[in-house]
Amino acid sequence: MRPQTTASPEAEVIKAPSPVALVTGAGSPMGRAVVLKLLENGYAVAGIDDKPTDLVGEKHLVLVGDMSTEQDSRLAVSQTIDTFGRLDAAVLLADLGGSSTVHMPGTVAEGEHLLARNLSSIALGIQAAVEGLSIDGHRSIVATASVAGLLADPGNWAYHASKIAMIDLVRSSALTYAARGIRVNNVASGLVRADDPNENPAAQTFGRDFSRRIPLFRLAQPSEIAAVIAFLISPAASYVTGTTLAVDGGLTASAGLVF
Ligand SMILES: NC(=O)c1ccc[n+]([C@@H]2O[C@H](COP(=O)([O-])OP(=O)(O)OC[C@H]3O[C@@H](n4cnc5c(N)ncnc54)[C@H](O)[C@@H]3O)[C@@H](O)[C@H]2O)c1
Repeated sequence: MRPQTTASPEAEVIKAPSPVALVTGAGSPMGRAVVLKLLENGYAVAGIDDKPTDLVGEKHLVLVGDMSTEQDSRLAVSQTIDTFGRLDAAVLLADLGGSSTVHMPGTVAEGEHLLARNLSSIALGIQAAVEGLSIDGHRSIVATASVAGLLADPGNWAYHASKIAMIDLVRSSALTYAARGIRVNNVASGLVRADDPNENPAAQTFGRDFSRRIPLFRLAQPSEIAAVIAFLISPAASYVTGTTLAVDGGLTASAGLVF
């Protein structure tokens, strides 16, 4: 793994007195929103993605690497600590199938790949973060499950299975690390739509149709998910662990009646 060449030069010299967070999947719309929210909240942030990202700034270290490998997961944590001096929290968003073009049903082999990669990205992220979290920090980890881990849709079995497994992985990790003062939680996001003027017409139509099934009658903005993640990792959520919090406009509260 390597620091991205566009990393902010300031990041290399800052030993932060402020809290420090690692954000995986930082190049995605939601990842960017989380990075921006945490920077706004006074964190120094290391963001890692397997693709180069253009988000740079003061107190932001940009890394490129693959969180489904043990080596890059450990490097992401150690480079964060080398740069900022500590680690207080990890937000684990990196996976396949959120807003990506992976469509199921594919072959079983494609499904197995997605399932294995998504699970290892979270499991290795938790493992590496646990080893790196500063003893005097807020010691918190948040992953992004999905409403797809709470309810099913036709076809997309591997993504659903990865999110169901993630919910149990978070419960189990919360129990495993509670005695070390580490909290582990999940956000189960509903469908997120970034404002994208170039969004294709089919996606726009899908978004409009799907919105009619949501009690709040709209898709989420990335910033609305980021705000809840920022709360969950903060000391304000000090008694919250092992939970999966739906942030879905009421979608999973509904038994399915169309209004
Ligand atoms: N977008 C949605 O509507 C939605 C809904 C529910 C849940 N989620 C979840 O929220 C999270 C973020 O969603 P999104 O739509 O912004 O993400 P996305 O699918 O657009 O992007 C995920 C990012 O993670 C990166 N990534 C994937 N695997 C990686 C790995 N092994 N190592 C490093 N980087 C990796 C990708 O390159 C990408 O930039 C995901 O966990 C997703 O499953 C998204």
